[in-house]
Amino acid sequence: AAPTRYEAENSSARCTGTIDANWSGYSGTGFCNGTNAVGAYAEFTVPVTTAGTAALSFRFANGTTSSRPADLIVNGTTLQNVSFEGTGAFDTWVTKSLSVNLNSGSNTIRLQPTSSGGLPNLDYLDV
Ligand code: GCU
Repeated sequence: AAPTRYEAENSSARCTGTIDANWSGYSGTGFCNGTNAVGAYAEFTVPVTTAGTAALSFRFANGTTSSRPADLIVNGTTLQNVSFEGTGAFDTWVTKSLSVNLNSGSNTIRLQPTSSGGLPNLDYLDV
């Protein structure tokens, strides 16, 4: 099935930072510019009908030359640390794909940065 898109600027998502639109190429009406700090997260609420493996694709831009690592926290459990490497410019968006198990019902999917740079700019999550 085609993925469902969860835009970072939607009210069902949470962004500890600002919703910005000053770099082109984003989907929807903007993107999450998370605060440049450890723990300043972006979180998505994802409803699932059948529990099981799901493909996640995060679209992001990191116009710095340093990675912006973040813990991937699903339903409160940290699963892995994801490296969001530099993309060359803040208007160069790429997707990072991961596979996780989701529960039936509502799931919270959080990216929580582990370095002082915080998150990359985050456009959406496709599930
Ligand atoms: C710049 C850029 C922002 C970005 C920030 C950062 O200020 O304009 O979009 O979020 O750098 O380094 O996180």
